[in-house]
Amino acid sequence: MKLFHRLKKQDMAGRAGRVPRHIAIIMDGNGRWAKRRGLPRTAGHSAGAENFRRIATYCKNIGVKYLTVYAFSTENWKRAEDEVSTIMNLLGKYLLEAIEKMERDGIKLVIFGDITRLPRNLAELVDVTRDINKRVEGFQVNVCINYGGRDEIIKAAERWAREKRPGSTLDEDTFAGYLYSAGVPDPDLVIRPGGEKRISNFLLWQSAYAEYYFTDRLWPDITEKDIDRAIEWFDSRERRFGGI
Ligand code: IPE
Ligand code: IPE
Ligand code: MG
Repeated sequence: MKLFHRLKKQDMAGRAGRVPRHIAIIMDGNGRWAKRRGLPRTAGHSAGAENFRRIATYCKNIGVKYLTVYAFSTENWKRAEDEVSTIMNLLGKYLLEAIEKMERDGIKLVIFGDITRLPRNLAELVDVTRDINKRVEGFQVNVCINYGGRDEIIKAAERWAREKRPGSTLDEDTFAGYLYSAGVPDPDLVIRPGGEKRISNFLLWQSAYAEYYFTDRLWPDITEKDIDRAIEWFDSRERRFGGI
């Protein structure tokens, strides 16, 4: 551990310290952010989507390799129709914008979630990203849309059962290959703004050994400084993975 610290390098933004390879963020608190300003909840989602762009750029610049963000859960359909459609429209807008820049900026964009329930234009954009991803290497952003950890696990189990050879057994690595996150290393650090201390069905399998950073600050207010704080805290953790 000591040696590791002495080997710490400065990252691309000049920050000292170890940068997690994979950061995951539960982008929570948009509604309360809007309420505090006397604005409709949908205004909070616009601010939140804009902040996603800012924080994703920052993560890329400091050398994070994978960023996974929770944008819409399988449970979020319970919300009012106009709130859901605003979120879907925002996702479409930002996805389209990201698609235009993926190749130029070397960003892989992967959607985690059941896209069969998404509006058609959004599902089509997801198909476009799949195509571009074949040609892109570099920073990978996973956007979780209509994503639920339990739903992901059930779908993986079903697919494995369908495709398995007679008599084959299942192990952890094989199973992980059936999840949306196939091929992506597990998140090191999960950040949850918004004050809640729960997982809300996010990356249940993948975050078995993640470090969780909770902050009361609301997602649209989260800045580069907050990400630095979370990483600094992460850097102070001793990860044992069940060892001593
Ligand atoms: C997160 O913000 C965005 C989604 C869940 C889609 P919320 O909309 O949950 O904001 P709060 O928690 O009500 O403040
Ligand atoms: C989690 O936030 C989902 C997203 C941020 C997309 P929620 O606001 O849906 O979580 P709960 O309902 O407070 O657990
Ligand atoms: Mg919430």
